[in-house]
Amino acid sequence: MTVDKKSLLNWVGGKRLLRKRIAPLVPTDIQSYIEPFGGAGWVLFYKDRWADLEIYNDLDGRLVNLFRIVKYHPNALKEELQYLLGSREMFFQFLNGTFITDIQKAAQFLFLITRSFGGRGDTFGTVKKSSGGASKSQRNVLEKIDAIHKRLDKVMVENRDFEKLIKQYDFEGAFFYCDPPYTSGCGYEVTSTADFDHERLRDVLGNIKGRFLLSYDDSPKVRELYKGFEMIEVERQNGINNREGTSRANKVYKELLIANYPIRELSKNVRPY
Ligand SMILES: C[S@@+](CC[C@H](N)C(=O)[O-])C[C@H]1O[C@@H](n2cnc3c(N)ncnc32)[C@H](O)[C@@H]1O
Repeated sequence: MTVDKKSLLNWVGGKRLLRKRIAPLVPTDIQSYIEPFGGAGWVLFYKDRWADLEIYNDLDGRLVNLFRIVKYHPNALKEELQYLLGSREMFFQFLNGTFITDIQKAAQFLFLITRSFGGRGDTFGTVKKSSGGASKSQRNVLEKIDAIHKRLDKVMVENRDFEKLIKQYDFEGAFFYCDPPYTSGCGYEVTSTADFDHERLRDVLGNIKGRFLLSYDDSPKVRELYKGFEMIEVERQNGINNREGTSRANKVYKELLIANYPIRELSKNVRPY
């Protein structure tokens, strides 16, 4: 089975809608491909292989546990998921529940994220039409586990703060695709919007030997921080869909792609999404 170039789950800030714009900007002569802010891994999983060495990292231990279980115990995870029904009652039981094993923890986390509105894991989502992202079909989820299991075969899964990770893996042939929390937005379990240190990230990336491509919200703060680096503007529809009747559904967001190597020329060949 080939990887269906999707991820296993929707994730706040996930790059499902931008991955086709980002992929052509990744240099082809890299020796390692590293995602310090892995999230749901939409860009990582978009291609069957980016480089000989590939690293998925996120500070959120729930995501890392999930991907490690998908990598090492896919069948046990699938078995655990067979027993889960898409019921509202079960959703709230898990939300308040305790876990016994890492496999149960992974299954319950995946269940909460795929059944919740916008992948936030806290509101039970009711779906009126397919989002094309997190699948609500149990069978689709099981098939995706097999595909992602295969994709993760040679991917190292790390659980570190971005600074330690970037410094650990940096060398001339390294490539970092960085998708940090945005300067405005709803934040994450591991870092709230107010707490994330954007200056620290800029200082780390400004001193690496390898190359980086960074995706960010288009804000004055980001433009100021990365003054002097190449930047291109991209637009995307709001990824939070299926909540019909709300004005957010059709909102267009402006984002920036920033790099320490020439991307403007590469971006000319990118088809509009
Ligand atoms: C915008 S999301 C990444 C989305 C991902 N590109 C995708 O397509 O799903 C940002 C991620 O950064 C993680 N994060 C926040 N602070 C971090 C830190 N200090 N070090 C590493 N990861 C961090 C969050 O847990 C979150 O998953």
